[in-house]
Amino acid sequence: MNYIGVDLGTSSVKIILMDEAGNVKKSVTKEYPLSFPNPGWSEQSPLEWYDKTIEGIKELLLHQETDIAGIGVGGQMHGLVILDEKDDVIRPAILWNDGRTTEENNYLNQVIGEEKLAEYTSNISFTGFTAPKILWVEKHEPENFSRIKKIMLPKDYLVYRLSGAFSTDVSDASGMLLLDVKKRCWSKEMLEICHIKEEQLPKLYESYEAVGSMKKEIVAELGITPCGGENEDEVLVVAGAGDNAAAAVATGTVYDGACNLSVGTSGTVFIATKDYKATTNHAIHNFCDSTGAYHYMGCMLSAASCNLWWMQDILHTKEFAREQSGISEDKLGENSVYYLPYLMGERSPHNDEKIRGAFLGLSMDTSREDMTQAMLEGVAFGLKDSLEVARNLGIKVESSKICGGGVKSPLWQKIIANVLNVKLEILVSEEGPSLGGAIMAAVANGSYESVEDACKKIIKIDHEVVPEESLVKKYEEKYKTYKKFYPALKGI
Ligand code: XUL
Repeated sequence: MNYIGVDLGTSSVKIILMDEAGNVKKSVTKEYPLSFPNPGWSEQSPLEWYDKTIEGIKELLLHQETDIAGIGVGGQMHGLVILDEKDDVIRPAILWNDGRTTEENNYLNQVIGEEKLAEYTSNISFTGFTAPKILWVEKHEPENFSRIKKIMLPKDYLVYRLSGAFSTDVSDASGMLLLDVKKRCWSKEMLEICHIKEEQLPKLYESYEAVGSMKKEIVAELGITPCGGENEDEVLVVAGAGDNAAAAVATGTVYDGACNLSVGTSGTVFIATKDYKATTNHAIHNFCDSTGAYHYMGCMLSAASCNLWWMQDILHTKEFAREQSGISEDKLGENSVYYLPYLMGERSPHNDEKIRGAFLGLSMDTSREDMTQAMLEGVAFGLKDSLEVARNLGIKVESSKICGGGVKSPLWQKIIANVLNVKLEILVSEEGPSLGGAIMAAVANGSYESVEDACKKIIKIDHEVVPEESLVKKYEEKYKTYKKFYPALKGI
């Protein structure tokens, strides 16, 4: 018996085949384009997500066992997907890193007010969240707004196409700014503020709950032998989760105080918390997680994407390891060049879609390696910004899991461990949200008692990267300088 896990990412969809014991047997990645129709805007076609997912599953199952019991999707969060009464997609999805909603964001935070938003949703508004996007469509595309029959998040569109269930899960719904996070239900006040009705929103589930099963015609098209559900003749489709909550499952970040760092297109600091606690600093989000509990999360908008931009667009190379090989250990903590990673503006902790990236401290003897090192360090400082907010709220984080494209570089791991002063636990499996999706499907089908039980049995640590006292001290000094740059550049 096998499970399929899907990670609906920003640059590609990654699909894995997992056996019942949690071993990943094969993975397939299918890329799709991202469009920036205006500066700071970011859009994608939901139809393309579906087509690439189907193409990917077909490739995944080639020469493999096709007995599939369930499928789970972890997906990029906050994106606005709207369908009309014929179930046609009304406009391209407006993504999590889109910064067009300055006016709507200010309206929510300043006119409705942060206090009220926190009372209704446990969070304040950020430009990338879904609610300000709904207000943007209402104002700028009234004709589109009037046609909206269904509002959903990116992964919910896949689930809808695969199963016909109009559903979402509480972890992903938390990022819409429409959910009462504490009570895990839609906020009536927020629906009124956004001029929408509850019937336009999906039904809420916990991430590991089945919302239905794969449509028969899709099962036939994919050549699957269904073996899930009570009668062992279905492919269960679970509600799934936002990609960070799904990655938390994949890394076993499911017990109180556990932390996961995700260094993908975005960079996130995810801290699981068993009980709901209101926060006083809303720079980090207070969301539901995939186990029935909660988590805090800080999100930087450009993390591994800074590395891709610097390497591919600027240095015109794909030799990531070779480019980093000139950065010797003795250079760590000694760099006088700084990099601000704000290529798409910044979410946590600044909530500033207008700020842009920078290199600072350049001189005639600055080398290409110094700039590459500064870029790697700048992303680590950006993660530290969120972690420090959590630490100032009294949350202790001494060790963390890590996942995402950036994880593969031992140099970047060392920089992150020392800048953040956390011990990194590097896992045997490098899979992120796709593994989380497959695990949730396995839980829904009864292969495991709970998400926590599955994580205990499946997730294994390979080795640790331990911070070194003297390097931690050096980076603490560097961070003091780094922190002065944002206030100095804000508004320019
Ligand atoms: C989290 C966030 C990003 C996206 C990226 O709040 O916006 O991590 O989910 O896929």
